[in-house]
Amino acid sequence: MKKILVIGSTGQIGSELTLELRKEFGAENVIAGIRKTAPSPKLTETGPCEVVDATDRAQLEAVVKKHNIDAIVNMAAILSATGEKDPMYAWNVNMNGLINVLECAREHKMAQVLTPSSIAVFGPGTPLDNTPQETILRPTTMYGITKVAGELLGDYYVRKYGLDVRGLRYPGIISNETLPGGGTTDYAVAIYYDAIKYGRYTCFVKEDTRLPMMYMPDCLKATIMLMKADFNKLKHHSDFNVGAMSFSVKELAENIKKYIPHFEISYEPDFRQAIADSWPNSIDDSAAREEWGWKPDYDLDAMTRDMLQVLGEKHKAGLI
Ligand code: SER
Repeated sequence: MKKILVIGSTGQIGSELTLELRKEFGAENVIAGIRKTAPSPKLTETGPCEVVDATDRAQLEAVVKKHNIDAIVNMAAILSATGEKDPMYAWNVNMNGLINVLECAREHKMAQVLTPSSIAVFGPGTPLDNTPQETILRPTTMYGITKVAGELLGDYYVRKYGLDVRGLRYPGIISNETLPGGGTTDYAVAIYYDAIKYGRYTCFVKEDTRLPMMYMPDCLKATIMLMKADFNKLKHHSDFNVGAMSFSVKELAENIKKYIPHFEISYEPDFRQAIADSWPNSIDDSAAREEWGWKPDYDLDAMTRDMLQVLGEKHKAGLI
């Protein structure tokens, strides 16, 4: 991999992943693809940026040619809750964007495509605890449907064209840099911001809702580990389960209370409850551990301490 294009580089994961990739592969070799969100100076000042909407094949093609791109990291996606409000929008960005990326990579004989999947591929019928790598995939959201189709497409391009396509099923990702938007797991991020800013949070899912989650440093580590893994050692390609931690909202709130004793939580479940209920409680990630050595660093308590410290400092500085 010599020149990497990150599509969706202003998103929750893309914004931090682009900076990490610049450290790993050289700043000038990682092009930040931006669709419409104004990029932060952190992105524009540390390396090249280009406007790229993956649903626009001609625009994608032009950027690939201009920079001699030989690897694409496709972080653009419409998440579960936004996808339920506008299913065709989710289909268009998630599917038409991905097929353009794969076709462009195939035609240019690229070295690699990384396109993430999600715990949203699971649904009713999937075992909820320690959800296996190989299991029933019957999602009930448009987001989940596009992620299952994306996994199948990725594996198809590996088998049919020998293209190196990789992907991992991210759990809910918690971070303190860029807010997530339109996901069901967003409560696990918002709770920390509101704990710091207001000392209270109203949660849109019930207290016993338990989902697999991961702190951003582990998400970045997993993504880069998979990108660097030896292709010949991979038995799976586009669908690795990756786990780190699993907690209920009640456990999360109690953990925050350890450090902010006056923190209070209340519950007003909405349509996202049904989405959360259709996803696993915890994930069996033994395939990722065996095939590319996956091991997370953060548990709930270590994440909470870091989140509260970083957000506390940002709040004092008037940034949030
Ligand atoms: N975080 C995503 C969502 O909640 C799941 O991949 O939609």
